[in-house]
Amino acid sequence: MYEFAIDTNAPKSDMYRELVKSADALTHGETDGVANMSNIAALLWEFLPDVNWTGFYRVVDGELVLGPFQGKAACIRIPFGRGVCGAAAQTGETQLVEDVHAFPGHIACDANSASELVVPVMRNGQVIAVVDLDSPSRGRFDHDDALGIESLVAVIADRI
Ligand code: SME
Repeated sequence: MYEFAIDTNAPKSDMYRELVKSADALTHGETDGVANMSNIAALLWEFLPDVNWTGFYRVVDGELVLGPFQGKAACIRIPFGRGVCGAAAQTGETQLVEDVHAFPGHIACDANSASELVVPVMRNGQVIAVVDLDSPSRGRFDHDDALGIESLVAVIADRI
């Protein structure tokens, strides 16, 4: 059993430092990418407040394919350039979307989703996956969340 004590009331930068430390400990020495993505999705689900989907899409044969996640069953394949995940995969840049209904081409997997943060996972200069976080609250994610998840993906990029 793993028990991580992450103070979700701490300032976001401190909370993410703890979260990344926990993610590092959970995945250290484990080479199975599915196991590692599953545990990271669970960690994000347990400790991030106000989210309704946390998980991964992986790049497989030039498109995004659903990976380990927590939340409602989701869209399985997303072409590069489509929706928020596809935009992150195509540009290699974090997508911070305050209002998904205003995002052209947004793919609604859960009608409750209102805002979204998608961070590409890069290995050797290529996007190999994205981390996707959805929230039922508008404007749930800010720059500190983006920085926090970017520091998480830097730690796990070689382990998924
Ligand atoms: N909303 C995403 C699709 C994935 S689900 O949110 C899990 C998008 O527009 O890319």
